[in-house]
Amino acid sequence: MREQLMERAVQVLERNYQEGGFTIPCEGLYPFQWKWDSGFIALGFAYFDMEKAKKEIETLLQSQWENGFIPHIIFHNDSDTYFPGADFHQSHLHPQSNKNFPSTGMTQPPVTGFVLERLLEISKHSEDMIGFIKKHIDKVYQNHVYFYEHRDVENDGLVYIYHNWESGTDNSPIWDDIWDTMNPPEYEFERRDTSHVDPAQRPSKREYDHYLYIIDIAKKYNYEDSKIAAHSPFLVIDPLFNSMLIRSNEALIKLYDLFGGSQDKVDYLKSKQAMGIESLNSKLYNKELGAYVHFDQRNNKQIPYVCSSSFAPLYSGAPTNQQAQSLVNTMLAKFGDEGRYLCASFDPTHDRFNPRKYWRGPVWINLNWMLYHGLQRYGFEEVAKQVKADSLELISKNGFYEYFDSRKDNPDGPLNGYGGNNFSWSAALLIDFLNENP
Ligand code: GLC
Repeated sequence: MREQLMERAVQVLERNYQEGGFTIPCEGLYPFQWKWDSGFIALGFAYFDMEKAKKEIETLLQSQWENGFIPHIIFHNDSDTYFPGADFHQSHLHPQSNKNFPSTGMTQPPVTGFVLERLLEISKHSEDMIGFIKKHIDKVYQNHVYFYEHRDVENDGLVYIYHNWESGTDNSPIWDDIWDTMNPPEYEFERRDTSHVDPAQRPSKREYDHYLYIIDIAKKYNYEDSKIAAHSPFLVIDPLFNSMLIRSNEALIKLYDLFGGSQDKVDYLKSKQAMGIESLNSKLYNKELGAYVHFDQRNNKQIPYVCSSSFAPLYSGAPTNQQAQSLVNTMLAKFGDEGRYLCASFDPTHDRFNPRKYWRGPVWINLNWMLYHGLQRYGFEEVAKQVKADSLELISKNGFYEYFDSRKDNPDGPLNGYGGNNFSWSAALLIDFLNENP
């Protein structure tokens, strides 16, 4: 059983690997390289083809802009199966963009730091991997400097996102509150995603109007961060995004300490880290809900809903033990009833919950992977085990889908798998789950 699953997962990654040295998330629906997918994908390859794992990261880092920014999608090739493509995003508008790699002008959660740390562990500290990390770590560091110098508007160690696609949780009900503050024009365009996937599992046309409008505003200002911070109607401090940054900072500090000779960088990261942790706990923690929430920086208020990102700080190590206990209580009370797999992407007790739709309810394997490690970090072994067991069961029963229905007795069944199939990070993280502590 384990061997069979492993074999199938390897096949998914091999098939999605492209000649250009990167791996698509899945065929048709996502035909390019995505930033945070890349990190998770590298972890999967690391167990059976370290060269591809390194290539994945190297290719991603090649797309970096002069100011340290790393884009969310890199359009390595032409494909007409995806909208909006390079022509719409026009990354060249930014004077420091990478002219060799057309991309979007937005980013995604910074996972690359902790991915490097894990690659080192998986390689058992091989000389080759040490050399690879030494060669590339400064680029990841520059990416963090970019965030702190350009995206930290309050100078408190937390960074903003200006688009829902930057969050990684693209269609979360959290964003509904922001859409209520906007009235974008009706765009005319041809959707491509709904020709690959049942529209009931994807965002609506009106939601796409909002997505495109925010990009148009950013383009109007040539993707200049200070202008975006001043004018974008979407300006959010996201607990998942910031937790990834904090966790990756921790990894960079550890790696630099190991290699020696970069005290100035370590000092910089440590000072940002201390501020970031303190601000995450004061600005994003909501005591009544027992969870971290998003903060609407534009309108200066918390967005008080619980979703799987609310628990991501466990992985960063930022919560106190007491906060961690509250998070687990909230997770089990709202998301953990017996009829459900852990962990739904949005609060199943809330009326915005939709078990079939994208980030509005289904379980995602990358979030489960982070929660698993976060729960372990704080010693919640039983819940961690459940998150892992649920992830393995969902994949072995349904296949390598993009997301999964959290209802064990699913009336819309028999399949619990939705969105794209043969999805790379579901395969890659399953490989990591199966092989950790071999
Ligand atoms: C979806 C997800 C996003 C992911 C992308 C490619 O848009 O919401 O997080 O990076 O697909 O897999």
